[in-house]
Amino acid sequence: MKYISASFYCIVLLLSTFAILRSSANVHVHIQNRHGQNINLHCKSKDDDLGYHNMENGTEYSWSFQPNIWGTTLFYCAVLMDPDPVWYHFDAYDDRRDRYRCQSECSWAILQDHSLLGYNQKTGNWERFFFRSDRLL
Ligand SMILES: *[C@@H]1O[C@H](CO)[C@@H](O)[C@H](O)[C@H]1NC(C)=O
Repeated sequence: MKYISASFYCIVLLLSTFAILRSSANVHVHIQNRHGQNINLHCKSKDDDLGYHNMENGTEYSWSFQPNIWGTTLFYCAVLMDPDPVWYHFDAYDDRRDRYRCQSECSWAILQDHSLLGYNQKTGNWERFFFRSDRLL
């Protein structure tokens, strides 16, 4: 019994250390409209619905969050671009992809040609991404 509780405390200690290390970093997501027209943006995670946001060209929407300790945090967004009646989708933060790509800042720009630029904090480069239409909100 003594051994069981000793290893139990060890595991709790390890898990809390892991949790503190993983959760210390707050991530800020910025999404800029450079489409040239108004867009409507709707971002969600499994737990949070950030609502619909009408954005004029040149404006930015942002939020911040703490990635969960399990490495499964996922924020996905849908974009409606005037006058196109189709929701385009992209992942604004996917822990598996972005853990190192955007450790504290995840910046996106939505472009006129219906593509996206995403800032890679690790390399300092803007990378081109494409919308999907496989995940409906
Ligand atoms: C949209 O905003 C971007 C970024 O501010 C700007 O460079 C561009 O000229 C704007 N386009 C239009 C059509 O207003």
